[in-house]
Amino acid sequence: MTEAISFPQDRTCPYHPPAGYDPLRAQGPLARVSLYDGRSVWAVTGHTEARELLTDQRLSSDRLNPSFPIPSERFSAVRRTRAPLLGVDDPVHNTQRRMLIPSFGVKRIAAMRPEIQRIVDGLLDRMLAQGPPAELVSAFALPVPSMVICSLLGVPYADHEFFEEQSHRILRGRSGEEAETARQNLETYFAGLIARKEKDPGDGLLDDLIEDRLRAGALEHDELTRMAMILLIAGHETTANMISLSTLTLLEHPEQLAQLRSREDLMPSAVEELLRFLSILDGILRVAKEDIEWGGRTIRAGEGVIFPASLINRDDTVYPAPDTLDLGRAARHHVAFGFGIHQCLGQNLARAEMEIALRSLFTRIPGLRLAVPAGDLPINPGDTLQGMIELPLAW
Ligand code: HEM
Repeated sequence: MTEAISFPQDRTCPYHPPAGYDPLRAQGPLARVSLYDGRSVWAVTGHTEARELLTDQRLSSDRLNPSFPIPSERFSAVRRTRAPLLGVDDPVHNTQRRMLIPSFGVKRIAAMRPEIQRIVDGLLDRMLAQGPPAELVSAFALPVPSMVICSLLGVPYADHEFFEEQSHRILRGRSGEEAETARQNLETYFAGLIARKEKDPGDGLLDDLIEDRLRAGALEHDELTRMAMILLIAGHETTANMISLSTLTLLEHPEQLAQLRSREDLMPSAVEELLRFLSILDGILRVAKEDIEWGGRTIRAGEGVIFPASLINRDDTVYPAPDTLDLGRAARHHVAFGFGIHQCLGQNLARAEMEIALRSLFTRIPGLRLAVPAGDLPINPGDTLQGMIELPLAW
């Protein structure tokens, strides 16, 4: 038996999987990894295998299951309350998801494009007026999705410093206690916001859910509060990291960036390739509810299963030369948004935000460059969403 590799590990290059995962690629498609608490779980690294298992209903997303794989102390602290959508299985999951699908569909998101463009233009105007230099995460990458999700949900953007700070601590706090306190703060905030909206409705998705579901008894207060939290956190932290890390990656691949600038029609495929290449949510988690006989091995009931997207999305049987960024490749079917019933609800929105943000940034600032050497830039640790902590730019 080979020794289990530890998971997660920190990236050394912000846009490549940790070098310490190389043996997993060699062992694939099903290997063992050990978690921070010493438990050993399965890691699925093959693309076909991952997509098969991610649709297997015998694998559960229930984070309250004591056997659920826990990648960090922080995660252990915040998983003690039931998370809607991400943390529940069908049929409950299906009921919750169906309430939200119309608000995240292709048509609804297409109708939001002019507003996203206005937000992006406004932030770029300010950045250009003040700079150079500029720090992209705080000036652009974070406020774009934060303003957009506020508008969609009906959350006052004036509260952004508070909720961005709490989300940051939930995802990146130094201790479990810090993360759990932040989770409780955010829950209290949303419970208050929903109570105010019940008396004085606005016109966001939360207002619609209060009117159509809460009042009809189809949704409990607690459930709506936690749903709002998940939508807010998932809606801004992920896309913010994708915008900052994509910007760095494009600046580090000047020939690819030149192609993107010269061909307007390349943007949709460029976004798919960046999603594949960067795989910022690098570890989708499940636990087996029953024994699963699979590829001559048995995943036993109660065993944890991890899907490292950064390896699955670099399976060379599906993506030739997987470690090369190739904006023109057909990077379809990647698992950067997951796969199966939990596949990202906000993917149409994330794609629209990335397209508009990256196109506008590189068009309006042709001389954009890093203000410090790439090697000096701090990046997120491996146990959270991957992305840039800060990105100082000049032009
Ligand atoms: C580029 C940015 C994004 C990435 C990489 C991303 C990634 C993911 C992944 C991998 C999952 C599946 C998790 C699992 O199977 O356990 C997921 C689910 C989810 N995402 Fe995203 N996401 C992004 C943007 C967004 C946005 C903008 C929203 C908007 C609200 C959002 C809302 C959600 C929700 C609600 C779920 C849970 C869906 C369910 O369980 O049915 N995400 N996302």
